[in-house]
Amino acid sequence: MADATATMTMDKGLDHTIIGESTKSFIDGQKGVLEYVGIDIDSLARESTFEETTFLLWNDRLPDADELDAFTNRIRSQYDLPDGMWDALRGLPHDAPPMHVLQTMVAMLAAYDADCDVQSREAEESKAIRILAATPTIIANFDRLRRGLDIVRPSADDTMAESFLRMLNDETPGTATARALDVCLILHADHGINASTFATMVAIGTESDMYSAITAAIGTLRGPLHGGANERVMRMLQGIDGLDAIEDFVLGRLSRKEKVPGFGHRVYKAIDPRATYLKTFAESIATETSNLELFKMSRKIEEIMESQVGAKGIHPNVDFYSATTYFSMGLAIDLFTPLFAMSRNAGWAAHAMERLEDNRLIRPRCQYTGPHGVEYRVDA
Ligand code: COA
Repeated sequence: MADATATMTMDKGLDHTIIGESTKSFIDGQKGVLEYVGIDIDSLARESTFEETTFLLWNDRLPDADELDAFTNRIRSQYDLPDGMWDALRGLPHDAPPMHVLQTMVAMLAAYDADCDVQSREAEESKAIRILAATPTIIANFDRLRRGLDIVRPSADDTMAESFLRMLNDETPGTATARALDVCLILHADHGINASTFATMVAIGTESDMYSAITAAIGTLRGPLHGGANERVMRMLQGIDGLDAIEDFVLGRLSRKEKVPGFGHRVYKAIDPRATYLKTFAESIATETSNLELFKMSRKIEEIMESQVGAKGIHPNVDFYSATTYFSMGLAIDLFTPLFAMSRNAGWAAHAMERLEDNRLIRPRCQYTGPHGVEYRVDA
């Protein structure tokens, strides 16, 4: 039997496959460079805001002051949820994983959008804004409800970072903490065709809609090999009995060929520039919030990993120091990955909209290795 796949190349993790052109983010994994639309991630982290960075990713340029104002207001006008979604959020089991809650609620947003099936750049952007704006409201209020607290509605005066923190804690966030979160959102906003962005593109590539594409991405981000790693890092740190136990812990894992969460990357073989930035950040927040021991433990893990596997190109990735940063901000561990999603909404939507400008259905093949001509027979 002729096998059409015989002349194709097997590329199981798509490590060697380019699936299209993109102007969104540039990664040089050998040098440890990350740029959004040509702007170095350090400059954005220092100078920009998450809202401005999102505009950049969606429009391939920075906005002027009026455009930023208009864009920000569009987002803020969509912070609140339809009444039916508040009811649904209240009705969800309190022990549900927050990533599943987020995925469910984003899918629900589609049900409340009469234009869900309108296909145009404008319509997809409006859907993306609804998702982006509603995400902090969903995550913060689910956390409140499971803690037995009342919901706090969002305020249109807040940035996204402020809004999330205000709803979560029902108090005005400190400027430094809100800015710290804003920078974390910038750092996580986009990263080429990672697994969840690829999931977005597979879904949008069928000419489905932005809600479907982003729910696919949320489910994909959840995995411990991807965004779920930040939660694993934190649980690992909590499971180690202080600084003195670190060496044995790390060497033990490596000798058993177990991976250390927060290390390694498919693309970066030099240090992930986001990790470098987050390390400084983690240290100052951990110091301010009396979590310095946690930071010191992280640094010691990094030192030992560097001496053991650094030469193989295994360094801390974005999840490693974001764990200490988020924990020091007082966030529940299972909110770390939802926060990643809150930021990555920007990148998912950017790539989905870009893909629709020059779409081709994504439909790879696999090499069939099973039998042929098997007789249909069910044993009695
Ligand atoms: N700890 C210890 N060893 C690691 C490692 C880690 N975190 N990550 C990779 N390695 C080792 C593997 O054991 C393997 O070693 P070997 O060649 O001796 O068998 C080698 O490095 C290649 O690993 P592999 O898993 O094939 O590379 P990949 O490109 O598929 O891995 C990740 C990328 C991210 C999936 C992987 O590094 C990983 O699982 N990291 C931990 C989870 C994580 O932090 N994910 C978030 C990424 S942003």
